[in-house]
Amino acid sequence: MKGGGAYINIGSSSSSINSSVSGSGSANGSKMTLGKSVKMYLTIFIATTCIYMVLYQYHMSREPFSPSEIGKHQEKSSSSSSSYIASYLWSPMSLLMANNSTSNNATTTTTAATATTTTVSKVAQVQGSSFGSIQSVSLAAAATRPTQTSSSASASVGGGHKTATSTSTTPPPPPATVTSTTTTTRTTKAKKATANAAKALATSTSMSQAQAQAQYQYQLDAAHKTRPTFVAASEPPPLYIITPTYRRPEQLAELTRLGYTLKHVANLLWLVIEDANKTNPLVAHTLDRIGVPYEYMVAPMPEKYKQTKKAKPRGVSNRNRGLEYLRQHATEGVLYFADDDNTYDISIFEQMRYISKVGMWPVGLVTKTGVSSPIIRNGKLDGYYDGWIGGRKYPVDMAGFAVNIKFLRQRPHAQMPFKPGYEEDGFLRSLAPLANDEIDLLADECRDILTWHTQTKKNPPAQALNKTRYSNTNLEHIDKLLVRP
Ligand code: UGA
Ligand code: MN
Repeated sequence: MKGGGAYINIGSSSSSINSSVSGSGSANGSKMTLGKSVKMYLTIFIATTCIYMVLYQYHMSREPFSPSEIGKHQEKSSSSSSSYIASYLWSPMSLLMANNSTSNNATTTTTAATATTTTVSKVAQVQGSSFGSIQSVSLAAAATRPTQTSSSASASVGGGHKTATSTSTTPPPPPATVTSTTTTTRTTKAKKATANAAKALATSTSMSQAQAQAQYQYQLDAAHKTRPTFVAASEPPPLYIITPTYRRPEQLAELTRLGYTLKHVANLLWLVIEDANKTNPLVAHTLDRIGVPYEYMVAPMPEKYKQTKKAKPRGVSNRNRGLEYLRQHATEGVLYFADDDNTYDISIFEQMRYISKVGMWPVGLVTKTGVSSPIIRNGKLDGYYDGWIGGRKYPVDMAGFAVNIKFLRQRPHAQMPFKPGYEEDGFLRSLAPLANDEIDLLADECRDILTWHTQTKKNPPAQALNKTRYSNTNLEHIDKLLVRP
């Protein structure tokens, strides 16, 4: 066996060398010389490589990492297994180091891999048909989107909603890293329904399907997470907005419109109180989507008023429930009753924060009188202008006054009477003692109109969906979003 000697001489150091040497020649002496010199070069090469690797690993282990970098790298390695494999192919020393040393090794190894195998990883992403590879690309895109960290909650809803004014005032939405974690979980679970919904979202807008999936998942998660408790800041003084609402076809539209108005206002808690025996998940979902800090409660109208053929005291039990909540939870700031169907200029909210006891201002579009307003003569409150006075001491509209919380708390029995037409008057009277000159006059001393008593045309309830004809279509989903009386 000619090649046998060479095989033995060179030993088991490398199979490629074996093969090259085994076919190199016939003379035994020259074979030995060649073998020796090859062995020598090989030894030098291996020794140099080892020294280089040790030095490199030492260098990498000394390099400090910021937490964000570590997170980013971990994310990469988990979404693309090729990084790990490549790291060990490239550097067997990593294995060695992993055995010998302790804590920061994992990071070091992964980092080394990421640093040197980006190309491999990218190739894997392009080739990979799994969602994981698509996902890592889209997450990178999401992370670099300029508005992502500051307004992802609203962006996920509206797609292009600009939140320049509300960015600093809204509660911080989940950062990009949270979104990525969520997406990864979702991928593992692979919920078909979610995927379909996200697909629909992606089709209806120009976003990629992966982005849509992440956003849709965020919306769902937000709906199921426990909302953080509203912690009122002292400055600017907090606002508590009590909104009565009730089940009807226009309900979600009204709440959406009002909610996005309130979203422009800082340090505000929205108390949405429904005239019902139980909460409606559709309302809760709408409130979640809007993203204004809120409490959603119920306070049904007493049965005796519901049954009556005469005018009903609309929204009264709701507002009294709101007052009860404030007595328990609020210590300072201002309370305002904002019916769900009216229209509000946000500057009125900034003005009402600083009311010391009670504040009043004009309300537009109230019957054919056109406006309901305090009358100011020589800078002083001197009566009221309203289409119907009706023997009221305070003939004002529900949208035309607000009350300081400390002042309210000094009147523990103040509440709204179940007396149609006299709700505002009865409540304001219950705040006595209150002198006319203690009433702050807002909206440029009542020379401006910043709130309107509007009404949405009543719509008939939507007819039932033909389930046979539209089975397996989007209409099945949409039908569940309609509020029917
Ligand atoms: C006006 C006043 O703004 C109400 O405060 C007052 O209760 C009512 O007149 C009245 O005097 O009866 P208006 O616009 O005519 O209100 O009534 P709605 O807008 O229908 O209702 C006022 C608020 O109560 C709304 O926020 C509405 O969502 C809520 N509401 C209405 C209920 O909670 N339950 C109902 O059955 C009806
Ligand atoms: Mn109304």
